[in-house]
Amino acid sequence: MTEASIVLRPAAPSDVSLLFDWVNRPDSLSNKLQTQAPITPARHRAWFAERLADPDSAIWIAERDGEPLGQVRLQRKGGGLEVDIYIAAQARRGRLGGLALAQAARLAAVRWPGVPLLARVKPANRASRRLFLGCGYTVVADRPDQVVYELRRSAGAEA
Ligand SMILES: CC(C)(COP(=O)(O)OP(=O)(O)OC[C@H]1O[C@@H](n2cnc3c(N)ncnc32)[C@H](O)[C@@H]1OP(=O)(O)O)[C@@H](O)C(=O)NCCC(=O)NCCS
Repeated sequence: MTEASIVLRPAAPSDVSLLFDWVNRPDSLSNKLQTQAPITPARHRAWFAERLADPDSAIWIAERDGEPLGQVRLQRKGGGLEVDIYIAAQARRGRLGGLALAQAARLAAVRWPGVPLLARVKPANRASRRLFLGCGYTVVADRPDQVVYELRRSAGAEA
């Protein structure tokens, strides 16, 4: 798969059900650091509306041939942009995660120049750990509950 074969498009209000489905998948919930319980439709709707209106957040849907296969979300917290990624199970292990992360980093560099990307990963989440290391992130904290990865960027740098 080449980078040109996937597109990251901004999430729209009509993606509410798609993202609700993905967030409540067991492999999504089990990898969350805080929210392990299923998320209710009302809570998801409120959260999604808030994210879409938030200038410090971005959500992109990763598509191949018009088919939505995953999402990347960035949310500015403190001095960094926290990354959340989900690739639908049937599309995994084909480098889509890495391609989506690379595109998200480029979009972030334009929108938030110089702001580092941060990922908080459960130590048992081997796929994510390989993903972030493979995308140039480095470990900045290794704790029993989470490993924190950071992608440092200089203002205006190309990805
Ligand atoms: C993590 C996730 C996004 C990876 O997506 P993906 O499209 O499979 O990723 P890629 O194909 O680009 O693979 C990235 C690396 O992870 C490795 N990898 C993928 N799945 C793996 C697994 N189950 N076990 C070990 N390594 C794995 C790949 O081999 C690759 O490593 P390499 O470059 O050294 O060969 C996907 O597994 C996912 O959505 N998981 C559930 C949600 C989640 O955990 N999100 C992250 C929360 S921080």
